[in-house]
Amino acid sequence: MIASPMEVCCLHLPFNEGSAECVLTLASPWDVIPQNYEELLSDKELERLRSIVSEKRRREYVLGRIITKNALSTLVGKIKHQDVSTLNETSGCPVIVNSDYAVSISHSGGLVASLVFEKRHSFGIDVECISEKNIRAAAHVTSEQEPVPRNPEHLIIAWTLKEALSKALKCGFYRSFDEFSLSWFAQSSKICHCSYANHPEFFGIACLTCDYSFAVSYRRRTPLPKKYYAQFLDSIHRIQTSVLNNSV
Ligand SMILES: CC(C)(COP(=O)(O)OP(=O)(O)OC[C@H]1O[C@@H](n2cnc3c(N)ncnc32)[C@H](O)[C@@H]1OP(=O)(O)O)[C@@H](O)C(=O)NCCC(=O)NCCS
Repeated sequence: MIASPMEVCCLHLPFNEGSAECVLTLASPWDVIPQNYEELLSDKELERLRSIVSEKRRREYVLGRIITKNALSTLVGKIKHQDVSTLNETSGCPVIVNSDYAVSISHSGGLVASLVFEKRHSFGIDVECISEKNIRAAAHVTSEQEPVPRNPEHLIIAWTLKEALSKALKCGFYRSFDEFSLSWFAQSSKICHCSYANHPEFFGIACLTCDYSFAVSYRRRTPLPKKYYAQFLDSIHRIQTSVLNNSV
């Protein structure tokens, strides 16, 4: 449907009440989006698309919706893409209409990411490319009191960890940045972990790879053992490398 490169990473989470899954997809908007993409979007999604002027933003929107539908069909079986709507609430939070699944979406520097998961859980994701503009923004978002080394890479990682939390909380960055402050930050190899001062119930993991930082924030009670997130981040690295090597 979409020209390669696009890979899907399936992460199986062993929850207490039985197994559950979430599906992470990373894709590049510079890929050829199928000519029939309008047939894959619902009427409401097309209505929203018509209001988006920027070509880059249109591609991100279309690709985000298509990979979310593909992920949903991995989880629930065959679906008719046109019947599934991922719309944004007033806060901007994306919602898969009439579904037991929720989604978190992010785009930056040519990558679009979507994580589809069961609604009873809370996940937020963020991807940011390392650029001069983003480094300046990241320095603004993290205070000197926070336990994060003040170099460009770590500041970008901290930013993604915070934005991922803001999405897991469904509020976005409309609250003060203090709300998302980090109280603990550690790095082991290329994987960083954090706790949040004002949201101790959440945990964040991030990795920096191929000039992108990618972060996931989720509730601590979500029993995601270390070996799973190591696997998760390995997959992200593999997908990013594959997507970026094949991108224009
Ligand atoms: C959430 C937010 C930070 C995302 O910013 P962004 O630059 O668009 O970053 P991303 O590409 O990573 O994320 C975009 C996606 O976030 C999701 N999103 C937006 N608001 C959200 C919210 N309240 N909760 C959860 N997810 C949200 C959307 O799915 C969106 O993609 P879509 O429009 O295609 O559906 C932004 O919408 C926001 O809250 N802005 C507030 C003001 C601000 O920008 N401050 C300065 C930041 S340095």
